[in-house]
Amino acid sequence: MNTCSRRTFVLGGLGAITGRGATPYPFSLGIASGDPAPDSVVLWTRLAPSPLAADGHGGMPAADVAVEWQVSTTASFGKLVASGTATARHRDAHTVHVVAGGLAPDTEYHYRFRAQGHLSLAGRTRTTPPPHTAGRDLVMLFASCANFEAGYFTAYRRMAEERPDLILHLGDYIYEGAGKPDHTRKHLGPEIVTLAGYRRRYGQYKTDPDLQAAHASAPWLVVPDDHDVEDDFAGRTRLDNIPALSATGWRARWTAAYRAYYEHLPLRPSAAPTGNGMRLYRRLHWGRLATFHLLDTRQFRAAQACGGGWKTCAEANRPDRSLLGAAQERWLLDGLAQHHGTWDLIGQQVFFARQLTARGTANMDAWDGYRTSRDRLQQGWQDRSVRNPVVLTGDIHTAWANDLKSDYANPAAPTIGTELVCTSITSRGDGSPATTIPIKAANPHLRFYSDRRGYVRTTITPTQLRADFRGIDAVSHPGAAVRTVGSFAILDGRPGVHPL
Ligand SMILES: [Fe+2]
Repeated sequence: MNTCSRRTFVLGGLGAITGRGATPYPFSLGIASGDPAPDSVVLWTRLAPSPLAADGHGGMPAADVAVEWQVSTTASFGKLVASGTATARHRDAHTVHVVAGGLAPDTEYHYRFRAQGHLSLAGRTRTTPPPHTAGRDLVMLFASCANFEAGYFTAYRRMAEERPDLILHLGDYIYEGAGKPDHTRKHLGPEIVTLAGYRRRYGQYKTDPDLQAAHASAPWLVVPDDHDVEDDFAGRTRLDNIPALSATGWRARWTAAYRAYYEHLPLRPSAAPTGNGMRLYRRLHWGRLATFHLLDTRQFRAAQACGGGWKTCAEANRPDRSLLGAAQERWLLDGLAQHHGTWDLIGQQVFFARQLTARGTANMDAWDGYRTSRDRLQQGWQDRSVRNPVVLTGDIHTAWANDLKSDYANPAAPTIGTELVCTSITSRGDGSPATTIPIKAANPHLRFYSDRRGYVRTTITPTQLRADFRGIDAVSHPGAAVRTVGSFAILDGRPGVHPL
């Protein structure tokens, strides 16, 4: 059975280790893996026998604790291909980020942890194909916006059941708001502003068995959005001052939120906060099939034009406004110029295509509030002859499929890319079966809409990217069914949404 004996970990040399069964079960928040490479993957867990403890330390003592990790090609763990011991530090809320290296490319693995005499459940993960081979077809799911109070995380359960190769999470992994009395699944405590508060909020979310199942099913690629810190913040600026905080207090909150995000997600140690933010924009190659460009549209953006909200606003057109910041914008265009994979998948947070209301207002928090930034990016990928640019988006709690146009004011202008927008896991509640595209007359390039909760399943081959929009019948009660509410293809070399 296990080649790592209990003796090995007892001899780990850390004072807090106690004997088998003497401590409560520490793996109450599950396990996770993420950021796969051809030869490695990040393994994550947090020790928290009492995950809702108010001090954010999950019921753990002040000491550091040794955590063993194991990787095997079989679910029985009969033969380990990698193993070791990490230290879960008190200062990190007893979270661990192990980079399990020396793995074979394009291979499925099982992993688990052991600490304090307890064994975690096992997770399934995989490495990416070698950089210069096409590899096999890729099943990638993407999702965003899981508000614990807005319903059950059934969509996460259904994602796990798909047994995907990869899960992309585009932000709003937690919501920061105070508990609302009329909800069955209620946030603990007031709006979170402290490190202890964020840690406890992650603790509360990660007790959810459906979320744990989704993490255990596949490696994740994650990027945060606004609610992981605070609604609609931009760079270092808050849009509201609720709850009231001094400039120093807001800065401390911002820092705490990013720190807790890193602590609780399976990110590479290179993403660890430096005290001056985190480097979250990054690139992942799935062989020569697909390149993921993961963007951070929060940390480096200019403040919302005209005070945010839905506006007609000339300031939104100013050429000095950027949603990405100059360095990230350059990094993205340089990456697109590499033509490494058949598909360039740009994972990001906010609605990319133009979306005007009948009155001409647009969402100042989305790319419509940073129009020259969008123009530069679209022109940039056209100048670089990017064959298959596909923007993957979260944030707005409804599902969309959009043609991206070289000129949104001219419906006859060429389609130069495609956008797929996932709905939420729970935010907005049950939704409806509605599929009539809102404000279609003002936006003919918007091709599909759904008001169901759920996620998008993509099946990616060298000749097409198939997108199945998966809708959950309800989130107000547990265990609802999932069904496909729309299916489309993007064909190699032919940007735009093709109904199936
Ligand atoms: Fe959201």
